[in-house]
Amino acid sequence: MKIAVIASTSTILNTLQEALASNSGQDQFVFLTRRSGKINLEEIDLVSTSIVIVDADKIEPLDLAVITSCTRNSMNPAFVFLTTAPTETMLLDLMRAGVNEVVKLPLNIAELSAAIERIRARHYISSATPPRGRIISFVSCKGGAGATFLATNLGYVLATNFNKKVLYIDLHMQYGDASFYLSETAGKNSFADIIGQAGLDSTVVASSSMQVAKNYYLLQAPEAIEKTSGIKPQQVDNLLSVAVQDYDFVLVDIAETFDGLTMKALDRSEQIYAVMQPILPYVRAMSKVLHVFTLLGYSAQKVKVVLNRMGKDTKPSQAKLEEVIQKTCEWVVPNDFNNSIESANSGVPIQKLAPDSPVSKSLMYLAANLVGDKVSARPSFFARLFG
Ligand SMILES: Nc1ncnc2c1ncn2[C@@H]1O[C@H](COP(=O)(O)OP(=O)(O)OP(=O)(O)O)[C@@H](O)[C@H]1O
Ligand SMILES: [Mg+2]
Repeated sequence: MKIAVIASTSTILNTLQEALASNSGQDQFVFLTRRSGKINLEEIDLVSTSIVIVDADKIEPLDLAVITSCTRNSMNPAFVFLTTAPTETMLLDLMRAGVNEVVKLPLNIAELSAAIERIRARHYISSATPPRGRIISFVSCKGGAGATFLATNLGYVLATNFNKKVLYIDLHMQYGDASFYLSETAGKNSFADIIGQAGLDSTVVASSSMQVAKNYYLLQAPEAIEKTSGIKPQQVDNLLSVAVQDYDFVLVDIAETFDGLTMKALDRSEQIYAVMQPILPYVRAMSKVLHVFTLLGYSAQKVKVVLNRMGKDTKPSQAKLEEVIQKTCEWVVPNDFNNSIESANSGVPIQKLAPDSPVSKSLMYLAANLVGDKVSARPSFFARLFG
């Protein structure tokens, strides 16, 4: 993890540099001194920094204000405060500002290391404990392609047929509709209600999610866009970090208008499934989306194209479409109007409603591939869908 040190003097900076040099090499460090006496957080990349270590003889209101402004919005980075003889009042002030650990000066390296390890354990950010799950995003290249329908139903199959613990995050800032594909009623909370909480953890995520099936949880989009104002990419990052510790799959439904928040989720995704239909406006939109992903530096393996609503004799053919978008369609989903519309209208997952329908079989195929179930995922299985 990345640790930033903002020391009050060059002497303290040298002491900390020497002390942290004995760190086993698993962490990255940034060493700075205060600028005009101020904790200059703007000089560090808060998104990628896990711990900030600062020191001061006296606790100044300005320091507390700077730390509060950072911890109020996010649990990352954690703060370690080094100070001489902290009084009880000082400790309370630091705690209220969101400081995680206070270590006494003169520095005892064992105490500082213990504080760092406690934070590492608490935030589950140790490289020694890899996250439990995988983050997979779904994005429509153009409205109505079927991203939400496929992703919500894929989550159901992963949870129900493959016994995986799944969290679905509907990361739409407005008009999120994922819950309606899985339930007749909407839940009370949305991701916007919890994303800024300083103590965001798996309990908060679970209690704010709607349980839509055994093992399957959904964190809804807020019903009003006002609720999303002020949300920061770093908070999206935190939410995903927490979620991925507790779920086998975290499926993220992303709006096709990319911004800082959705880009953070795309960055964090192991795979991005971009959905299109075999109709020219979708094909054009897919070419643009793929171009954006290339500009963002995403690898060809990370980005997967889903060709939805494909018929056996649909023109243009799959080969022609692939030639236009210059990419292979990883997952081809058959068109199945009646079952899909019934599922969408009733809020009952298609696998539950019509387990033998072509779309259900196709979902089984992708889910089996994702979990590495070789029997259900063998190529002939899908080929048989089209006879
Ligand atoms: N394979 C399919 N066969 C038939 N109908 C389908 C199929 N996939 C999706 N649909 C239908 O398409 C409709 C729109 O899908 P969905 O809401 O998932 O689109 P979206 O890509 O998420 O769009 P938006 O950009 O608006 O979020 C669904 O109501 C569903 O009934
Ligand atoms: Mg959608």
